[in-house]
Amino acid sequence: MDNKAKDLYLDLLKKTLSFSLWPEPPIPVKDFHRKKKTPKRFLLSIVSGILNKTKYQLVRRRDFATQDRADGKVWPGYADTMIGLRRLDNLQRCIETVIADGIEGDLVETGVWRGGACIFMRAVLAAHGVKDRKVFVADSFEGLPRPDADRWPADRGDTQHTRSYLAVSREEVEKNFKRYSLLDDNVIFLEGWFKDTLPAAPIGKLSIMRLDGDMYGSTMDALTNLYPKLSSGGFCIIDDYALESCQKAVDDFRQQHGIAAKMEAIDWTGQYWRKE
Ligand SMILES: C[S@@+](CC[C@H](N)C(=O)[O-])C[C@H]1O[C@@H](n2cnc3c(N)ncnc32)[C@H](O)[C@@H]1O
Repeated sequence: MDNKAKDLYLDLLKKTLSFSLWPEPPIPVKDFHRKKKTPKRFLLSIVSGILNKTKYQLVRRRDFATQDRADGKVWPGYADTMIGLRRLDNLQRCIETVIADGIEGDLVETGVWRGGACIFMRAVLAAHGVKDRKVFVADSFEGLPRPDADRWPADRGDTQHTRSYLAVSREEVEKNFKRYSLLDDNVIFLEGWFKDTLPAAPIGKLSIMRLDGDMYGSTMDALTNLYPKLSSGGFCIIDDYALESCQKAVDDFRQQHGIAAKMEAIDWTGQYWRKE
C-alpha cells in the first residue's frame, strides 16, 4: 500500500471505528439498561416490550458534542471503540514507531469491549504489511469483575460489574473483526478474567501493551503479568488514568518497580510511556 493510501485507510478506519463520521442515532431503550432495575427502567422495559411487537420502537435521544466523541468522553451506542480519536492516533503512532524502530514483540489490549482498538491494531499491522506480530485480545467478554476488596482495597464499592453495556460477547467481537475483514490467525483471543488468563498467556515479547480494564485489580493484573514481557523501546499505554483506582494501580506499580520513564498525556485520561 502506498503511504497516501495507507494514511487515508487508517484515517477512515479511526473515524469509522469511533463512529465519528455520523451524528449519534438514538438507541433502543432496552440496549442501555443496567442489570439493576429501577421502577422507571422497569416501566420503560414494559413499554419497549409492547412496542417491539409493533413496527415502532422506544428510543432514547443521545446528543453528543462532536468534541466529546473525539475525546472519547462518551459511552457510544454504535461505535466499535469508545476510546476516541486522540487515543486512536496515539495507538497508531506507537505501533508505527515500534515497526520503524524494529522493537520486537506482539501487541495486546486488556479490556477490549467491542474490539475497536484491537481491530485498529490489526489494521495498522496489515497496512504496513507486517505479518509476524500478533494481536492479543484479552477480555472476560462478560464485563468487569466484581471488586475483590480483600485483594485490591482500592476497588471496594466499584459497581461497574453491574453495567451490562460493558459486557460484549466474544462472538460479537469476532463478528466485528470480520466486518472489517481483519480476523485471521494473527488475532488471538484470551478469554476470561485477567488474573486467570494473563499468567499463562502464550505471549513471548510485547512491543505494545494497551490497558483498558478501568479497575485497580484489572490494571495491576495486566501490569504484573505483561510488563516484564514488554521489550525495551515498547510502549505501555494506559486508557483510564483519569480513574482514581486505575491511576493508583499505575502509580503503585511504577513505584514498586522503580519505573522512571516519563509518562506523557494523550488526552484528558490516556497516558503512556516508553519502556527504557
Ligand atoms: C472500558 S471497556 C474497554 C474499551 C475498549 N478498549 C475500547 O476500545 O472501546 C473495559 C473492558 O474491560 C473488560 N475487563 C475489565 N476488567 C477485566 C478483568 N479483570 N478481566 C477481564 N476483562 C476485564 C470488560 O469486560 C470490558 O470489556
